Amino acid sequence: MPKESNLRIGLYPGTFDPVTNGHLDIIKRAVKLVDRLVIGVALNPGKQPLLSLEERVACLHEEMVRLFGKQRIDFESDDCPIKVVGFNNLLVNCVKENHATVLIRGLRQATDFNYEFQMCIMNQQLAPDIETIFLVATEQHRSIASSLVKEVAMLGGDISSFVPPSTLKHFKTLLAKKVLS
Ligand code: COA
Repeated sequence: MPKESNLRIGLYPGTFDPVTNGHLDIIKRAVKLVDRLVIGVALNPGKQPLLSLEERVACLHEEMVRLFGKQRIDFESDDCPIKVVGFNNLLVNCVKENHATVLIRGLRQATDFNYEFQMCIMNQQLAPDIETIFLVATEQHRSIASSLVKEVAMLGGDISSFVPPSTLKHFKTLLAKKVLS
């Protein structure tokens, strides 16, 4: 393992409303490319997320405990390669604040590309030292989108093959509370 100051830190940003098996697939593959991976959960008020930032961070945190078998998910504990942070500022500033140099994004299909390309160019102009790496989603995850998962769940459909088990449990409870309130 390189010295702390030479660590390659990546940041995987998203809204994660909710985190899906597609996101977890990207996380599992991204962590092999960097020494440390920060998962950046965007407040993203423009997308009017169903779950609060705290709820989305908590779901991701729980999934990381399950995935990496660590009690605490932060870089300071037990060689944990993952950290989950919420952010409400410019993405490139969040990358810098977390001492990351690499941005990771998932690409599911060609239609994702135009949007991702635009964001990538803008981020390059704002912070030329930050590189963006795109990981192509594995086949079984290419049709998963958080907005579709929410729609299916709100209409009573089964989302168990799209979201991980602990998120499924939380999401159903949170959704029921929100629909009733
Ligand atoms: N598998 C399955 N689904 C995937 C996926 C994968 N590998 N990768 C992405 N998705 C889905 C998500 O579920 C989501 O679906 P939805 O739109 O139906 O909800 C969609 O693809 C993309 O969402 P997500 O990955 O959460 O990213 P986002 O586009 O919501 O997030 C930010 C974009 C957070 C990176 C962007 O808004 C941002 O940078 N915000 C900070 C402010 C800023 O700096 N703005 C200027 C940017 S140039």
